[in-house]
Amino acid sequence: MVLADMLMPEMDGFTFLGKSLQLDPNVAVILITSHYTVDSAIEAIKRGAYDYLCKPLDQARLRKSLDELAEVSSRRSQIRVLDEQLLSNFEFEGIVGRSPAMLEMLDMARKIAKHYTNVLISGPTGSGKELVARALHQMSPVGQQRFAVCNCSALVDTLLESQLFGHMRGAFTGATETRPGLFEYANGGTVFLDEVSETSLQMQAKLLRVIQNREIQRIGSPEVMKVDVRIIAATNRDLRSEVLAGRFREDLFYRLSSLEIHVPGLAERTEDIPILVRYFLKKYSDEYGKTFQGLTRRAQMVLLHHGWPGNVRELENVISSAAITATNEFIDVDDLPGNLRRPVGNIGPVEENWRPLPLDEVRRIHIKRVLEMCAGNRVRAAQVLGIGRTSLYRFLKREHRQTSKNAA
Ligand SMILES: Nc1ncnc2c1ncn2[C@@H]1O[C@H](COP(=O)(O)OP(=O)(O)OP(=O)(O)O)[C@@H](O)[C@H]1O
Ligand SMILES: [Mg+2]
Repeated sequence: MVLADMLMPEMDGFTFLGKSLQLDPNVAVILITSHYTVDSAIEAIKRGAYDYLCKPLDQARLRKSLDELAEVSSRRSQIRVLDEQLLSNFEFEGIVGRSPAMLEMLDMARKIAKHYTNVLISGPTGSGKELVARALHQMSPVGQQRFAVCNCSALVDTLLESQLFGHMRGAFTGATETRPGLFEYANGGTVFLDEVSETSLQMQAKLLRVIQNREIQRIGSPEVMKVDVRIIAATNRDLRSEVLAGRFREDLFYRLSSLEIHVPGLAERTEDIPILVRYFLKKYSDEYGKTFQGLTRRAQMVLLHHGWPGNVRELENVISSAAITATNEFIDVDDLPGNLRRPVGNIGPVEENWRPLPLDEVRRIHIKRVLEMCAGNRVRAAQVLGIGRTSLYRFLKREHRQTSKNAA
């Protein structure tokens, strides 16, 4: 708290006020003057002064102002403590949520954790499947053992097989030494098969064998090894329709999905948005060494009405970038990315600026928007769009050719 005169030798009170607030937005400045007018008092408050008092100082008036200030600041710190308590009540193994859908899902996870050997986690991209998988492992009796992650969509078949099962020296070109795979590495613990729907049918047959018999074979080795691993698989596709389309083995599907945990998308649990915002705001303001009081009402409304196709990951990105750019105590709509500020079509079926476009054009606009949302990450964008990465690359290549032709 600073008590400053309006008339001082080196700078006037307003200049001093501006400089102090710039240095520390939380400082309370009380200006005192012998030329009090209502207009100048209002000007002072507008510029951010905590109070404006006239000289000679009325001790009682000053005491009252200081008492109020003390109360406001103690209330603020109480709110902060309550906020943190609230957060810790609704955080479980790093998973934040208070919606009935999330609480039910977490309850189920807690029960399953003690007993599972195979679990399927389904849910849209960015909804928190990996987080849930890690929590399941942590809560399981083998929580102290290894947790190995394999992203099944990131590797071609032979590399995937070698990563999971290992290989013998000379088993294929480039196999210069014998290496164990993830199933061996995580023996006694858990293997997480992320995006299991992206595996080939041949690969699925091999996975079935591990799940049924807990047996593996390194590539190029005749030896069959027993492993004792728990398997958690995740998918953002509907595996049932993948089975119907002939892209996923039915027997593997039944084996995997006998225990299924579904993580709902963020739009199905908007009750979680405020608490997730608080959680991420705290996380990123700590990380960037800033303090925020929260979000303005306008900004909160924008977040509540967004459709969140990228789910919690998208929300996390929005808050972390706002925490970087925002300069005020409260994060406002200007600190949010443009695609949120503009009302988009996910609010209702009819967009305000709807035009009868050809399908190709709609496709192009949509893909561009999703790419923007994913900050140019093509793998993510392909997941959100529900298309293969190669289809997306093909589209981008065509697009690129088109723009260069137009430019020429
Ligand atoms: N309930 C939650 N509480 C806190 N953070 C969350 C929650 N859900 C997701 N996140 C965060 O959002 C990001 C995305 O989560 P995660 O990677 O688990 O999603 P995913 O479902 O596996 O996505 P994808 O299908 O794209 O792989 C992570 O940074 C994660 O920490
Ligand atoms: Mg994931």
